[in-house]
Amino acid sequence: MNQKSRLFEIKRLKGLSALVTGASSGIGMAIAVALGREGASVAVNYRSSEDQANEVVKEIKGYGVNALGVKADVSSPDQVEAMFDKVREKFGTLDVLVNNSGIQKDVPFLEMSPKDWQKVLDVNLTGYFLCAQQAAREFKRRGVIPERSPSAGKIIFISSVHELIPWSNHCNYTASKGGVMMLMKSIAQELAPMKIRVNSIAPGAVKTPINEQVWSDPEKRDELLKLIPVNRLGDPQDIATVAVWLASDESDYVHGTTIFVDGGMTLYPGFAAGG
Ligand SMILES: NC(=O)c1ccc[n+]([C@@H]2O[C@H](COP(=O)([O-])OP(=O)(O)OC[C@H]3O[C@@H](n4cnc5c(N)ncnc54)[C@H](OP(=O)(O)O)[C@@H]3O)[C@@H](O)[C@H]2O)c1
Repeated sequence: MNQKSRLFEIKRLKGLSALVTGASSGIGMAIAVALGREGASVAVNYRSSEDQANEVVKEIKGYGVNALGVKADVSSPDQVEAMFDKVREKFGTLDVLVNNSGIQKDVPFLEMSPKDWQKVLDVNLTGYFLCAQQAAREFKRRGVIPERSPSAGKIIFISSVHELIPWSNHCNYTASKGGVMMLMKSIAQELAPMKIRVNSIAPGAVKTPINEQVWSDPEKRDELLKLIPVNRLGDPQDIATVAVWLASDESDYVHGTTIFVDGGMTLYPGFAAGG
């Protein structure tokens, strides 16, 4: 067996347990399945799409690992606490949190209602805070188990290129993702002494239901492709492979950083033909 096929044989997350928020769809779904394929037990959080979450749980169980669907609105402190209780009850503890649940409510700034502003901040930023805090408390309580991992736990934030790139008519979304960047970095600094590893993945344009109105319209899709130097939309799998690596100990020295997985979208493609 050559080195490459050996790598795929080894289940890099064997014996670990993970929770992925918003795992009933898109990027979260791909990450949850990929973590299960690598040997982790996976809790699949959803807010409303129970049937889809059940399908994901079924697929993960097909890899011979434990899986659990868990309904919770990540913006509700009570529901988040109850979700972590359920996960601990089922898996005993938690090793990896992937904070992924996210929404958009796109409105021009001058017309945006406080409700549209607040809703996006509640889910995309407060939701990440609440879940990260619950996970970090569990990681601290349990501490490092050396035969399991050199880390007490790993937190992975699914941010966006819009933690960096401004976006007209989306100020609630960009503010939430800019906030995610500083939340990630600040808690990475604070939690490092507890051996809790914290990082973000910033996807570019990935084909999921969140942006279907863009990629399903040929004109809008062509406009979007002009912003992506590699000239293709991302696939949820492009994000999942990086999430698996961050959840594994192969990335043990990676801490407090954002990995952009965006086909070059952050390269200011408008400058490719001059400036
Ligand atoms: N797709 C992209 O191009 C792209 C680019 C950059 C960043 N991202 C980020 O990637 C993450 C996933 O996006 P996606 O494209 O995969 O979107 P998606 O397919 O629309 O999935 C969103 C997921 O979030 C869940 N969710 C929404 N509100 C929730 C809440 N209050 N509590 C718990 N779960 C909730 C949904 O669950 P239910 O269906 O059960 O409601 C669903 O599983 C988001 O944070 C997004 O900002 C996406």
